[in-house]
Amino acid sequence: MEYTVKTGAPAKQRVPCLVLGIHEKRVLTPPAQTINEISNGYLDSLLRKAGMTGKVGQSLMLHETPGLAAERLLLIGCGKERTLDEQQYRKIITHSIKQLNAADVTVAASYLPGLNVRSQDCAWCVEQAIRIVAHEQYKFNDFKRDRRSPDAALARMVLLVPARRDLPQGELGRIRGTALARGVKLARDLANRPANACTPTYLAEQAQALGETFSSVKVKVLTEEKMKKLGMNSLLSVSQGSAEPARLITFQYKGEKGSKPPVVIVGKGVTFDTGGISIKPAAAMDEMKFDMCGAAAVFGVVAAVAAMQLPINLVGVVPATENMPGSRATKPGDIFTSMSGQTVEVLNTDAEGRLILCDALTYSERFNPAVVIDVATLTGACVVALGKHATGLFSNHEPLARELLRAGAVAGDRAWQLPLWEDYEKQLDSPFADIANIGSGRDAGAVTAACFLGKFARDYQWAHLDIAGTAWVSGKNKCATGRPVPLLVQYLRNRCAAQG
Ligand code: BES
Ligand code: MN
Ligand code: ZN
Repeated sequence: MEYTVKTGAPAKQRVPCLVLGIHEKRVLTPPAQTINEISNGYLDSLLRKAGMTGKVGQSLMLHETPGLAAERLLLIGCGKERTLDEQQYRKIITHSIKQLNAADVTVAASYLPGLNVRSQDCAWCVEQAIRIVAHEQYKFNDFKRDRRSPDAALARMVLLVPARRDLPQGELGRIRGTALARGVKLARDLANRPANACTPTYLAEQAQALGETFSSVKVKVLTEEKMKKLGMNSLLSVSQGSAEPARLITFQYKGEKGSKPPVVIVGKGVTFDTGGISIKPAAAMDEMKFDMCGAAAVFGVVAAVAAMQLPINLVGVVPATENMPGSRATKPGDIFTSMSGQTVEVLNTDAEGRLILCDALTYSERFNPAVVIDVATLTGACVVALGKHATGLFSNHEPLARELLRAGAVAGDRAWQLPLWEDYEKQLDSPFADIANIGSGRDAGAVTAACFLGKFARDYQWAHLDIAGTAWVSGKNKCATGRPVPLLVQYLRNRCAAQG
């Protein structure tokens, strides 16, 4: 996919398809107005005849518009201009891409990035457009004999900004959008890869490869032996049942001079979650290859941040393991001493995410972090609470929670905060160890999981993102989404901007 940002007269765009916006009540956007004038009111009369009023979701493909250098013209409903916000803009762009794909368009020139989106500039509009195009065009074909995707016709997209003075902004948006799209694609590719081909060892290799691509990224991989020395018995209690050895991967990206405390992002990397001895039912178990989407997000964020050369220090930590049953597997009731010194009674081996994350959180202390954010497909309960739309957010520091919520809203990758009150902690009491790995009863499963992690994140500002519902979609279009890479990259960018 190739993107170009330019400015120019709509009638003169010699492309297979031109895309223009129509606001509600048939109010023409400026480029549509221009075409309407050139064509002696052709658009006005046509919109009326076709019953298109300009509502979001409406569209019209025209074939022979007088005075136009483009072969076809796609009109897209944009709703009321006054209420055009970030969400609405994204819907409009998504709809336009779906229409272009349905019409087998190979090259399109779109004036939609010139829409006036409330409280956003041209750079944002271009960035979002690129992100959405990349998202819609994505296909995972690595395991198809015929790798050429049959339906990705759109190969080039020209994004038009209103005036010459908008070009620098547009270009900035293009650079950011392609960097972000690259990170999201990396996360999706890793996550979609089947568990037999995406093992902890494979993730470690891919991490090394990322370190070779970007000289600003240093990669370190710890073996089980090293983890044992560090006292990561909780993490190892999960990997001990598997023939595949665990790996602890760290990325260090330096975008700032000196040794400014970094942001640390920790991602759950369970490359397959059978549940262990507390084995899961068979239905849809294949989807547990996605249980490393938190890890994939760390890879994606590191790639995007390095590609953007953000002036920030960032550390990524990925505990990677399988969760398998077997003769060496952890048995319910087994007790382990975590790296923090707290002992944990494993009452359910399917609550393994928190067992690997707790040691990764303790390990993160050594980076002297400004903040630590963990990302994990942690609980089915979070999907019950929030569905597939919002990521669950928990934090021990309110300002951090607010910044993450805001970043998610701007990036179109929203989170919703759930409580992290002490009241829930009683549910984690164990008669034999310092703490149990599951909450008693089925109440508030997403919260008790977060409370468990909170006990290992006492010494820094910390947030936990439960992406169990948002990291992939099920059904016939089963696919990883790349969330929450956009949220996290937006958060890091806002942080850079705030620091000037
Ligand atoms: N990886 C799962 C969580 C999950 C389940 C994510 C379904 C997305 C869809 C996690 O390791 C798990 O199994 N959690 C258990 C915890 C329970 C045993 C306390 C769960 O949610 O059922
Ligand atoms: Mn599990
Ligand atoms: Zn899991």
